[in-house]
Amino acid sequence: MTTQHQGTALVTGASSGIGAVYADRLARQGYDLILVARNRGRLDTLAARISDETGRSVEVVVADLGQGSDVRRVADILKTDHSITALINNAGVGAAAPALQSDIDAMEAMIDLNVTALTRLTYAVLPGFVARGRGTIVNIASIAAIGPEVLNGVYGGSKAFVLALTQSLFKELAGTGVTVQAVLPGATATEFWDVAGVPIAHLPGEIVMKTTDMVDAALAGLAQGELVTIPSLPQAEDWAAYEQARQVLLPNLSRAQPAARYGVGV
Ligand SMILES: NC(=O)c1ccc[n+]([C@@H]2O[C@H](COP(=O)([O-])OP(=O)(O)OC[C@H]3O[C@@H](n4cnc5c(N)ncnc54)[C@H](OP(=O)(O)O)[C@@H]3O)[C@@H](O)[C@H]2O)c1
Repeated sequence: MTTQHQGTALVTGASSGIGAVYADRLARQGYDLILVARNRGRLDTLAARISDETGRSVEVVVADLGQGSDVRRVADILKTDHSITALINNAGVGAAAPALQSDIDAMEAMIDLNVTALTRLTYAVLPGFVARGRGTIVNIASIAAIGPEVLNGVYGGSKAFVLALTQSLFKELAGTGVTVQAVLPGATATEFWDVAGVPIAHLPGEIVMKTTDMVDAALAGLAQGELVTIPSLPQAEDWAAYEQARQVLLPNLSRAQPAARYGVGV
C-alpha cells in the first residue's frame, strides 16, 4: 500500500448497504477497520475481501446495537483502542408505517438503535479524540431529519436527533481538532427499504441513488469540510438559506414576554 496510514475506522452497520461501502472506501483511503453488525457471515466475507484487496487490517465485532450490553462492549473498544481515529455511526433501521399502524415495541427498538446506541458510541469515543486532538465522527442521519412527514415519524424523529446532536457537537468541538459530519441521504438502493416494509422497486427510479455514489459524495463532502452533507441536493445555497433562516430565529426564541399575537398581558 502506498496510501498513508490513517488509523482505524470503526463502522457500525458494516455488514451491508451504506456501511459496507464506507468500509471499502475507508480501507482504500488507508484506514484499518473494525466492522460492527449482527451478521457474522456477511462481516467475515466483507472483511476478507477488503483485507485481500487493500492489505489493511480488518477486525470483525459481532454486536446487536439494540442491546445495551452489546452497545457497552463496542463502547469499551472505542474508549480503549487509541488507534481509532474515525467512528462511522451508520447502523440504523427505518419504517414507513404511520403511527396508527406501527407497533410501539418496534418504534422503541428503532430509537434504541438509531438514537441510544449512536449517542453512547459517540460519547465513548469523544474524550479520547479530544485528548489526542484528532478524530472524525460521521453520523448517518437521513433527509427524514428535515422531512419527517416523508416516512414513519419516529424514524424521522430519530434522524432529527442525529442531525441536532451533530450540529451541537460541531459548536462544542470547535478548535479541538475533532471533525463531525451529519450525512442526510435520500432514498439509497440498500436493504433498508425491505426492512422498512417498502420494496425499493416501488420507489420512482429518479429518486433512488446508488449506494456507492451516495457514500462517495458523502466522503467528498467530508473532505470539503461540510458539517451537513445532503448528497442529492443540487444547490448547496438552498441548505445555506435554510440554515440562515434558523439562525435568524435563534435570538428571538426565548424572551420574557409572549408574542403580541397571543394577547397575553395586554
Ligand atoms: N437506504 C436509504 O434509503 C437510507 C436513506 C437515509 C438514511 N439511511 C440510513 O443509512 C443507514 C444504513 O442503512 P442502509 O441503507 O445501508 O441499510 P441496510 O443495508 O439495511 O444496512 C443496515 C445496517 O445496519 C445493521 N444493523 C441493523 N440492525 C442492527 C443492530 N440491531 N445492531 C447492529 N447492527 C445493526 C445491519 O447489519 P446486521 O443486520 O448484520 O446487524 C446493516 O449492516 C441507516 O442508519 C439508515 O437509517 C438509509
